Amino acid sequence: MSEKKAQLILEDQTYELPIIVGTENEKAIDIRNLRDETGYITLDSGYKNTGATISTITFLDGEEGILRYRGYPIEQLAEQSTFLEVAYLLIYGKLPTKDELSNFELRIKQNSLIHEDNKKFFDGFPQHAHPMGMLASSICSMSAFFPESLDPNRPPELVDHSIVRLLGKMPTFIAWTYKKRIGEPYVYPRYDLDYISNFLNMMFSTPMEEYHIDPVVVDALDKLMILHADHEQNCSTSTVRLVGSSQANLYAAISSGICALWGPLHGGANQEVIVMLERIKEDGGNIQKWIDKAKDKNDPFRLMGFGHRVYKNFDPRAKIIKAACDKVLSKLGIYDPVLDIAKKLEEVALNDPYFIERKLYPNVDFYSGIILRAIGIPVDKFTVMFAFGRLPGWIAQWKEMRENREPIGRPRQVYMGPTKRDFVPIAKREN
Ligand code: ACO
Repeated sequence: MSEKKAQLILEDQTYELPIIVGTENEKAIDIRNLRDETGYITLDSGYKNTGATISTITFLDGEEGILRYRGYPIEQLAEQSTFLEVAYLLIYGKLPTKDELSNFELRIKQNSLIHEDNKKFFDGFPQHAHPMGMLASSICSMSAFFPESLDPNRPPELVDHSIVRLLGKMPTFIAWTYKKRIGEPYVYPRYDLDYISNFLNMMFSTPMEEYHIDPVVVDALDKLMILHADHEQNCSTSTVRLVGSSQANLYAAISSGICALWGPLHGGANQEVIVMLERIKEDGGNIQKWIDKAKDKNDPFRLMGFGHRVYKNFDPRAKIIKAACDKVLSKLGIYDPVLDIAKKLEEVALNDPYFIERKLYPNVDFYSGIILRAIGIPVDKFTVMFAFGRLPGWIAQWKEMRENREPIGRPRQVYMGPTKRDFVPIAKREN
């Protein structure tokens, strides 16, 4: 809490409001008692200007293009760390020692199998079911298989077990949504493989042929997951915290986060980017035509993978991904024409006044889809991969919210509907 106060003048009366300054000098006016003291609320559709919590997990500065998990720059983590190490950092707040990390990895492996009854759920899904729908239901169904998880107020070591179980089963569920979709037999987890290799093996091994694990692919996927691991109070994370604030169990809260991520304006954008680039390619690759469409207010088309609610200069993750994308494609010897289209589109957009004035830059999704496709992930599974990467962040945010004993989330509104009027029985209503 700062010594300084904000002053608010309402109906000739002056109110003093506390000011909170974060460790990175982020400033907030504390309005928690505003309604009680003044009768007013603040109105902020889309919460563009509302701080919902005080958090120690992720810092991002949209103007400067900075992203740090627990203080560590994303560039250093992407280069030098692993996804599970980053997951540990996000969830427990510190970098693990060697022993802590290997113990964490072992426990996750030991929890990667799925109950055979839970597996039967996959028989019930139609083959064409979207993987996000299958994943959200599978994660929520864990609360039926582990009823002790229903109480989020259990001792911390039991809550921790629910967390590790979730990290263990997530890759298995995701790989099985794919196997269901293509009608191949499910591949079980293997204890001799690391987290990412095990996932790739469950995705791509068949009874006819064991998947060849390429360290280039493992490394690229690991990096991609680190970049997605947390992004403070975005739509899906806020959903996880909001659902968790009612003391619903961890699996229900994460399942809601998966649903929130599904939309094309959030996690669904990576899928939409590839669809868009393919459309542009099939249409003859006329970049300017599509730029003009994106600028036309009468045309609903938007440049997918461009723009961000918070980053208004550049998305630091997009920079890392763009470099990783070139590296993976050249190491795998893949030529993807949509990469050329993506680069041209970026160049034209970044020089166009429409995009410059609105501070629209490529976001993390602009290039991530090209990497995912290069390593064999089908387009309709991209958003599921995003959910896979975001899981540690959701868990960390849920855990922080619980540990801080935050109140149930309950925004207010300004009512603009009809004022009181008397009910008219149906027989007396005019047609
Ligand atoms: N293409 C064309 N115009 C755009 C785009 C775009 N991708 N994004 C924003 N604009 C324009 C809007 O039309 C608006 O113009 P106006 O001021 O003339 O009306 C202005 O830029 C501001 O746009 P808003 O929608 O108000 O910005 P907001 O911060 O609410 O939205 C969002 C951010 C949702 C990411 C938006 O930029 C968008 O829809 N982008 C495309 C989808 C996408 O890539 N989503 C992934 C986000 S990253 C993630 O979730 C990991």
